[in-house]
Amino acid sequence: MNIRTPQDWELPESAVTAESLYQLRPRRDFLRTLGIGLAGAALSSRHLLGATGGFPSLENPAYPASALKPTPYEFITSYNNFYEFGTDKADPKMYANRGWKSEPWTLELAGLVRAPAKFDVNDLIKQLGGIEQRVYRHRCVEAWSMVVPWDGFPLAKLVALADPKPEAKFLKFTTLLDRVSMPGQKDNIIEWPYVEGLRLDEANHELAFIATGIYGKAIPNQNGAPLRLVVPWKYGFKGIKSIVKIEFTAKAPRNTWNLMAPDEYGFYANVNPNVDHPRWSQASERVIGGKGFAGSRQRTLMFNGYEAQVAGLYKGLDLAKYY
Ligand code: MTE
Repeated sequence: MNIRTPQDWELPESAVTAESLYQLRPRRDFLRTLGIGLAGAALSSRHLLGATGGFPSLENPAYPASALKPTPYEFITSYNNFYEFGTDKADPKMYANRGWKSEPWTLELAGLVRAPAKFDVNDLIKQLGGIEQRVYRHRCVEAWSMVVPWDGFPLAKLVALADPKPEAKFLKFTTLLDRVSMPGQKDNIIEWPYVEGLRLDEANHELAFIATGIYGKAIPNQNGAPLRLVVPWKYGFKGIKSIVKIEFTAKAPRNTWNLMAPDEYGFYANVNPNVDHPRWSQASERVIGGKGFAGSRQRTLMFNGYEAQVAGLYKGLDLAKYY
C-alpha cells in the first residue's frame, strides 16, 4: 500500500477496549455481555430485529474463539483500510457513518452462470440458511494483524446458487461505486470501483467466507457492510468490501492493487513470510490490540496459519513468482 505503517503509540487511548469486552468467554456469555454492557443503543436495528441479517449466528466449532485470541471489537472497527472513505486508518469509521447507507443492498450474480440473479441481501441470507460465526486470523499486506470473529456464510454457498457453467474458472468481485456518499472516490488515488478476484477452486474452498457481521453484530460500514469477502490465508486486500457484484469469468480478472502496482501486489496474495514485499519484510507482523499486547510482534505463518488446509490449492505453483 502507499501508506506508512503507524507506530503503536499512535493508537488513541480511546481505542483501548473495556476489559470485559476482550476477555475470552464462551459465545453465549459474550452476547449476554454485549446486551448488558452496551445496552440496545449500540446494536444496529438489523441485529435487534433478529429477523434480518440472519442474527443470531452460531459458532462453527471448527473455528472457535477459544482457539485464537480475538482482537477487541474497538480495534477491529476503528483501525481500517477502506479507501472509499479515505486513506487514514481512522477515516473509514468516521466517514462511512455520515449518511452512507449499506441498507437496503442488492447483490448481483452474473457472467458464466446458469442462474444469474439479483438478490436483496437479507433475502439472500435467509435463502442460504442463515449465518455462522468463525474466528479467523486477518493479516494485512502492510504487516499488521488481528483476529476477527466474523459472522457470515461460506462463499461456496453463493457459488452453488449461481451454478457456474463449465467455462467459469474465476470470480470477479466489485465494490459499490458511489462518488457522492463515498468521499474517497472523489480522489483518483485508485481506479474505482475497487475490484478483486479469486480462482473458482479458491472460492469453493471451505475457508472462503462472506462476512455479514463481527462479534455477533451486523458488520459495521467501515468493515465493508453489508457483504465483504474474507479469505484468511491471503493478505487482507483480497477481502473486498461492500460487494455489489460477483461475475464468473473464464479469464483471471485483474485486481485493484495489482492494477495500481503490479510489481508489488499480485493476483494470489497468499500470505508468505518467505517472500518480502519490495519495500518491507513479510517475516513478522505487528499485532493490533489492547493493553497487554499492544506493540507485540509475532512471526508470520505460511498461508497465515492455514497451510494444512490450503497448500494443496497451489501444488506445483512457484509461490515466489505467483505472489
Ligand atoms: N475493499 C475496498 N472496497 N476498499 C479498500 O480500500 N482495503 C483492503 C480490504 N478491502 C479495501 C477493501 C485492505 S488493504 C485490507 S487490509 C482490508 O480490506 C481491511 O479490512 P478491515 O478494515 O476490516 O480490517
